[in-house]
Amino acid sequence: MAPLLELPYDIQDVSAEEDKIIKKCLLGYMKPFVKCGKNGYIMPGAFRKHAEAIYNFQVRPDDVWVISYPRSGTTWTQEMVWLIENDLDFKTAQEKPLFDRFPMLELTSQIPEIGFQLIKSNFMNIGNFQGLNQAARSPSWKNLEEITTPRFIKTHMPLSMLPPSLLDTAKVIYVARDPRDTLVSYYFLHKMIFRSFMRFTCKHYWDAFKRDLLPYSPIIQHVNESWEQRHHKNLHIIFYEDMIADLPKVIRGVSKFLNRDLTDKQVDKLANHLNFDKLQKNKTVNNTTKNSEVQFIRKGKVEGWREHFDEKMELEAEEFLTTSLKGLDLKYPSFSL
Ligand code: A3P
Repeated sequence: MAPLLELPYDIQDVSAEEDKIIKKCLLGYMKPFVKCGKNGYIMPGAFRKHAEAIYNFQVRPDDVWVISYPRSGTTWTQEMVWLIENDLDFKTAQEKPLFDRFPMLELTSQIPEIGFQLIKSNFMNIGNFQGLNQAARSPSWKNLEEITTPRFIKTHMPLSMLPPSLLDTAKVIYVARDPRDTLVSYYFLHKMIFRSFMRFTCKHYWDAFKRDLLPYSPIIQHVNESWEQRHHKNLHIIFYEDMIADLPKVIRGVSKFLNRDLTDKQVDKLANHLNFDKLQKNKTVNNTTKNSEVQFIRKGKVEGWREHFDEKMELEAEEFLTTSLKGLDLKYPSFSL
């Protein structure tokens, strides 16, 4: 067995003030949140003890990975990639939940301390969401090691925290989305999970987000790490806004990257399967928690953030984007500075 690689980044507790801001948005975490590496990626305190195992996860040449900052269109991309790689096997896709076909690498490390108890007691059926039942029983990265067929792996971790052999070994699709829409979607995801227990507003989330304090933030550095590697032969970057504008074109680009030939008819069939209304009704993909008013696949809009931002938030968002993108070559399709 190869010797364990040492973590190339440090892990520090956030300040008490920052921890308070984060915990205003997220329930059930007892330990202080941590910042990882020079970009200061936010993770739950429990991540500290798992970081090395995740960094040392063995990548295989036939793995296909989807990476994103949360709420960027990950699920949509996973379903597309899985179907392209599995000869459009709609039957299996309809039978087996996406979180089983395409599990999340670090899931166990994200479960709040209180969450383990809630999942085991099946409180609000939370364990049925996104494979949490299994991830609470054994580490999600260990569960992935057990898979003997080609693996499909989802992660929200940035490249610098993932196994260093990743890009030279496996195919990676990175999906990015306008940070403002991502933030609104992040807020509604937690509203879906916490339901009436959640007293926080979109404004609370924005306050944490603009200070790069939500888990996996800072978003711009997260995307930029992949953007800097965009010419790597094993990396393909897509944007949510391009999927909305012309899904068949994005499907063709991903198929070409994966060396899969799809006929025009197959591209149309897949685009039809991935259409918002259909995917929202698709129970193996739209893994909404039981009895929640908010859906996991929720609105599917570009610039939906406008309905939720007041004038002050809009100005702050412009300032956030201008400052974070300063000096970077990264370009989003949905705005220019
Ligand atoms: P909204 O909350 O803005 O609707 P992730 O999978 O990374 O968590 O991202 C979830 C976001 O992708 C949600 O955004 C969800 O509605 C959107 N999404 C999922 N499938 C979609 C589709 N077929 N068309 C458009 N948006 C989709």
